[in-house]
Amino acid sequence: MEKDDVDKYRNEFPITGRFVYLDHAGVAPISRRVEKAICGFLSESAENGAFLYPQWFRKIVDIRKKCADLLRAETDEVAFVRSTSHGLSIVAEGMAWNQGDNVIIYEKEFPSNRYPWEHLRRKGVEVRTIPSREGRIMLDDIEQQVDARTRLLSISSVQFTNGFRMDLKRTGDLCRKKGMLFCVDAIQSLGVIPMDVDAFNIDFLAADAHKWLLGPEGIGIFFCRRGLTEVIEPALVGWKSVQQQFEFERPQFDLKKDAQRFEEGSLNVMGIIGLGAAIELLNEVGIENIEEQVLGLGDVIIEEAERRGFEIKTPRERSARGGNVTVCGPFDPDALRNALREKGIMVNVRAGGVRISPHFYNTKEEIVFCFKELDRILDREP
Ligand SMILES: Cc1ncc(COP(=O)(O)O)c(C=O)c1O
Repeated sequence: MEKDDVDKYRNEFPITGRFVYLDHAGVAPISRRVEKAICGFLSESAENGAFLYPQWFRKIVDIRKKCADLLRAETDEVAFVRSTSHGLSIVAEGMAWNQGDNVIIYEKEFPSNRYPWEHLRRKGVEVRTIPSREGRIMLDDIEQQVDARTRLLSISSVQFTNGFRMDLKRTGDLCRKKGMLFCVDAIQSLGVIPMDVDAFNIDFLAADAHKWLLGPEGIGIFFCRRGLTEVIEPALVGWKSVQQQFEFERPQFDLKKDAQRFEEGSLNVMGIIGLGAAIELLNEVGIENIEEQVLGLGDVIIEEAERRGFEIKTPRERSARGGNVTVCGPFDPDALRNALREKGIMVNVRAGGVRISPHFYNTKEEIVFCFKELDRILDREP
């Protein structure tokens, strides 16, 4: 991205006037646009109550389409959820398991993508784990775990600890070949790496808005491939789960056939409107441009860390990393993170190192500044 473009968008992010914010793999700040959309909704609600519901409803329809487009899915394959954990749990709790079935996960997954599967042990489901190979996940290791009882693989598109990026195309092909379902926790990539559920043979996907999507917390996107929506029994049901949702006195209980069967009750309209504004901004910039920019900033982090002899826990090659880069060195990462925060620089600690995760509106100068401050804190020559 050209410097002018980045500068233009920095004005959208008031955080840039106060802090050097490099923790988008944690919780991202929202843009003015998202703030305005949410505050606008709140004012409308305060002044009109539900009079404006038809208008909000049309917005929700439009935003559902935006979410679908972002994934290259169809609108009937998308449900709004309250978190990534919620989306993944819909799959885990909705499949018809048989005693002795197994699922495959990565040993170092974020808990949201481990616990829903581990919770299935109570139903006699075995959870098989793929080992970390110096922070990478190997397809051979996945393949070795598969047998006739393997029903599903669930993996993050980008690992939260070190930013390792999964080759979703090859993984999806493997799942197809082996006849197992493919579930993706996409919270660490959606918004920064283009997604294509069809090309990658993804069956289920979940991602909350509060990281790379630059949206608010508590609203997420869940994708369930058409044809599988009816295979997944909703664990939670309510008035919105059924086909004639506004016929409150209808005695029949006939579940919707599309992904909206997983939206059991009133939606988080405020969150959806915020998410919609966030996706609009990302689309305006272009996800490919964002990816290029963020990987370029990752290159700068790697260069700066290498110059100081630090260990880089993240793959160097662009094709194998997302937006977060984790760096270890002769320092206590927690103490360093806290000291950087005191200087207005927001990073985080993962995998025993400092995780730095810039978004497209960050600059090379901010990364260099972060490392210079780090030198000062550690009292060392750069
Ligand atoms: C890989 C991964 N999945 C999920 C989450 C968050 O899950 P949820 O949206 O349920 O809060 C995180 C947050 O750190 C994450 O890194």
